[in-house]
Amino acid sequence: MHIPRGTEDLLPEATEKWQVIENTLRKLSEKYHYKEIRTPMFERTELFQRGVGDTTDIVQKEMYTFEDRGGRSLTLRPEGTASVARSYVQHKMHGLPEQPTKLYYIGPMFRYERPQQGRTRQFTQFGIEAIGSDNPAIDAEVLAFAMECYEAFGLKSLKLVINSLGDHESRQNHRKALIEHFQPHQEELCQDCQVRLEKNPLRLLDCKVDQDHPAMKTAPSILDYLNEYSSNYFESVKKHLDAMGISYTVDENLVRGLDYYTQTAFEIMSEADGFGSITTLSGGGRYNGLIEDLGGPETSGIGFALSIERLLMALEAEKLSLETNAGIDCYIVSIGEEVTFTATELTHQLRQQGIRADRDYLNKKMKAQFKAAERANAKFVVILGENEMNEGKAQVKELATGEQTTVPLNEIATYIGGK
Ligand code: HAM
Repeated sequence: MHIPRGTEDLLPEATEKWQVIENTLRKLSEKYHYKEIRTPMFERTELFQRGVGDTTDIVQKEMYTFEDRGGRSLTLRPEGTASVARSYVQHKMHGLPEQPTKLYYIGPMFRYERPQQGRTRQFTQFGIEAIGSDNPAIDAEVLAFAMECYEAFGLKSLKLVINSLGDHESRQNHRKALIEHFQPHQEELCQDCQVRLEKNPLRLLDCKVDQDHPAMKTAPSILDYLNEYSSNYFESVKKHLDAMGISYTVDENLVRGLDYYTQTAFEIMSEADGFGSITTLSGGGRYNGLIEDLGGPETSGIGFALSIERLLMALEAEKLSLETNAGIDCYIVSIGEEVTFTATELTHQLRQQGIRADRDYLNKKMKAQFKAAERANAKFVVILGENEMNEGKAQVKELATGEQTTVPLNEIATYIGGK
């Protein structure tokens, strides 16, 4: 029996790395003053239809939707922003004294996509959302945070790409221009794009089938349709980035795959050799209408999300390793049946004193027990023989130096702790 396509088992060698990554991301969140939110792994399907958008690939083709026994349509979350926005509205977080509300999440997301390197059906996102401020400074903070998520691990071959999608008015004008531009080519476009042209022409620019159509290259740029507010906003975001010394490239074709975006949109790419064909590491942007669409007051928000899977791919491409600390402090080697109860007692006592300890459970020979201690990456080995036990003592050997001392059983924790 195998796991479903597009999923993976993370065995201890992998989870050790994941824990390092998760801990680092949590520490970064503390540094930037974001607090953790945990929302359910499934939500009412309607949330994503309204939040992520009916015309997106995510909603149209990629959702894991099912009916529960009560006949409700539920969906495994394909992303985190809609859930966080729902929670923000449900718990009236706009009323909290501390604004903007700055939240982060780590957890699995589900999309029915064609699995390939960097694209799985279950993947883990780390994301942040800052809701309740339309100050360009917070856009820049989110971008800086996003970049630091990679820099914190020593990654260097990174590219930050930004764009503005404008406000409602700018988008309406751009929409009209897009329709005029693509209408003469309607017949040449894929089935999906023919529908997109009517419903949401911006989605055309994100089409993987028609990406090489000549009309794509000459499509009207959103940047030419930004009204004064949007254009000033974008300029200000760039100035804040300059103030932090963060470099970026403006790409007017960056549209993102979700419908809720307004104003600032961005992606971080890996430029490392051998990264693979999907180079986007993370993406995000502003979503000023989303809270209102979900029944909340007019509130602006911005955030981003990365997947830990792609972060690991970037580390591999740049040949960076993570420092994992998987060892234990002490392995108890017990010789002879008589000492087994003392070994149990000692292991238990050491653990209660905060020492990471393990012992033999297979009645192995002494040499094999030493091997097990080495494999467990133990710093010390406690050798418990019958004679020493009767004297209430044991030999303690430090594996790195080979130094061996006799230590009273009730002083072993202090001895190891002091080393
Ligand atoms: P997204 O661009 O759909 O945005 O996904 C963000 C990141 O999730 C991607 O850049 C990628 O690292 C990862 N990702 C997406 N799909 C997969 C997959 N199938 N396998 C592996 N990794 C994947 C969002 O989800 C927005 N909610 C981000 C956001 C937060 N915008 C504002 N706030």
